[in-house]
Amino acid sequence: MYRSRLEGKLDKHTLEFLSSISDDFQIALYDILGSQAHTMMLLENKIITKSEATKILTALEKLKKEEFSEKSEAEDIHELIESLVIKKAGKEAGGKMHTARSRNDQVTLDIRMKIRDDINIICFCLNEVISTLIQLAEKYQNTIMPLYTHLQQAQVGLFSHFLLAYADALFRDLDRFYVTYGRVNESPLGAGPVGGTSIPIDRQSTAKMLGFKGLVENSIDATSSRDFVAEYVGNCSILMTNLSRMAEDFIIWSTSEFSFLELSDKFTSTSSVMPQKKNPDILELIRGKTAQVIGYQMAILSNLKGLPSGYNRDLQQIKVSIWPTSKIAISSLLVVNSLLKTMNVNEKKLRQAIDRGFSISLDIAENLVRKGIPFRLSHKIVGHLVQIAANSKKSLSQLSLSEVKETIPSKEIDAKELYKIIQSTTPESSLDTRRSQGSSGKHEQQRMIADRKKKIQAYVIGTTKRTNEVRTAIQGLESKLKVLIKNKA
Ligand code: ARG
Repeated sequence: MYRSRLEGKLDKHTLEFLSSISDDFQIALYDILGSQAHTMMLLENKIITKSEATKILTALEKLKKEEFSEKSEAEDIHELIESLVIKKAGKEAGGKMHTARSRNDQVTLDIRMKIRDDINIICFCLNEVISTLIQLAEKYQNTIMPLYTHLQQAQVGLFSHFLLAYADALFRDLDRFYVTYGRVNESPLGAGPVGGTSIPIDRQSTAKMLGFKGLVENSIDATSSRDFVAEYVGNCSILMTNLSRMAEDFIIWSTSEFSFLELSDKFTSTSSVMPQKKNPDILELIRGKTAQVIGYQMAILSNLKGLPSGYNRDLQQIKVSIWPTSKIAISSLLVVNSLLKTMNVNEKKLRQAIDRGFSISLDIAENLVRKGIPFRLSHKIVGHLVQIAANSKKSLSQLSLSEVKETIPSKEIDAKELYKIIQSTTPESSLDTRRSQGSSGKHEQQRMIADRKKKIQAYVIGTTKRTNEVRTAIQGLESKLKVLIKNKA
C-alpha cells in the first residue's frame, strides 16, 4: 500500500522476511482502539468530517470481530488494518485515517497498551501468589526446619520464615512492576514519524481517551525509545529468577532423600519407562523458562544498544521477545500459586532433619555468650563439641558430661554448666529466644505475617484501581463512538 515511490512488488520470500504480521496479532485490538481514539480526535479537532469519522469508526468496529489473515500482502498489522478500513470505508474517508500519525508512533502505542495490560495481569497474579505464601506462613509458623547456607544445615528455623522470604522477594517484584507501570502508561501517539506534525492534533485528548496518565512528550524520544520494554522484560527476568530459586528449593525438598515436601500428583509427571517416577517437571520448567526470559532480555538490550535515534526497523524484532515473556511470567505465577496450595508439607521430616544435624550449634554458642563468654571462645568450644559428637556419631544432646569436659580449653566455664546449657538448648527454646528483627523467632513470624497481610492489601487495591481506570477510559471511548455509529445508521 505504501510503495508508490518504489518500483515493483516485494517477492514472496522478501515480504515474509520483512513482515511482522504473525507477531502483530497480539496487538491488533490495541491498534484498532488506538486508531479509533485517533479518529475521534481528528473529528473533535475538525480535521476530518463527521461522516468521514463515522465511516472509519464503523469499519474499525467491524474489524474487531474479524479474523486477520497472515497471508495478506501487508508488511504489518498497521498496514493491514488501514488497508481493510480503506476497503470498507472507501478511499475518500478511509484514506484520511492515517492523517497526522505514523506507524512509528502507532507501533510503540500498541506495545505500551499491551504491556500496560500485561503488567496489571502480572500484578494480580503476584498478589495471589504472595497472599498464598502469607496464608501458608500462617499455617506453618510452628513448623521447625533447618535453614541452609551452602546447602549445608546452618541454623534452626521455621518453615513460615522460608515462605515469608519468598513473599518478600515477590513483593519487590510486585513493586518493580508497579513502578514501571507509571513509565509505560504514557502515550506516544501523535509523535508522528519522528518530529511531530503541522496538523492541529490534540495529543492530550487521545492519551486521555486511551486511559494514559500523560504523554511521552518529546516526539523523537517517543518513537525511538524502547527502554520501557527493556525495563518490563528485565522485571520479568528478575521475577522469573526469584521463582526459579523457589523452584530449585522445592525440587531438592521433594527428592526422596529430603522428602520435606510432596507435590500434588497434578503438578508432577511420570516417566515413560520407570513406573515409580514422580518428577517435578513443572518446577523444572520454571527454571528452564527463566533461562528463556533472560535470553529475551539479552536480545532486547543487544538490539537497542547500537541503534541511532529515530525509528529503525530493527525495533520490529523487539516485539518477538515481549509476548512470550508475558506468557511465561503469567503462566509461571498461575502454576506456582496452584502448586503451593496443593503441596504437602512433611513436618515430621523437617523436624527429623534438625535432629540429625548440628544446626543448634549457634544457639548453644549464643547461650554461652549470655553467660559472659566471649563469642570467639564459645565458637571454639561448640566447634569442639560438634567435632566429638560427629566423630562418635552422636547428636550434641547425646554427649556425656565427660565428653563435654574434654572440649573446655580453660576454666572460663564449668563443664557441668556447659552440659546443662547443651541439654536445655532445644530447637523450640532457640526459636522462642531468637528475637532479632526479621529472624526465625516465633514472635517475629507473627509480626511479619500481620505486616505482610496489610502490605499486600494496598497493592491489591492499587492494581484494581489501575485496571478500572484503563477499562473506564476504553469503555468511554467505545460508548462515544457507538453514539456516532448509531446516529449514522
Ligand atoms: N512493523 C513495524 C514494527 O513493528 C512498524 C513500524 C514500521 N515503521 C516504519 N517506518 N517502517 O516496528
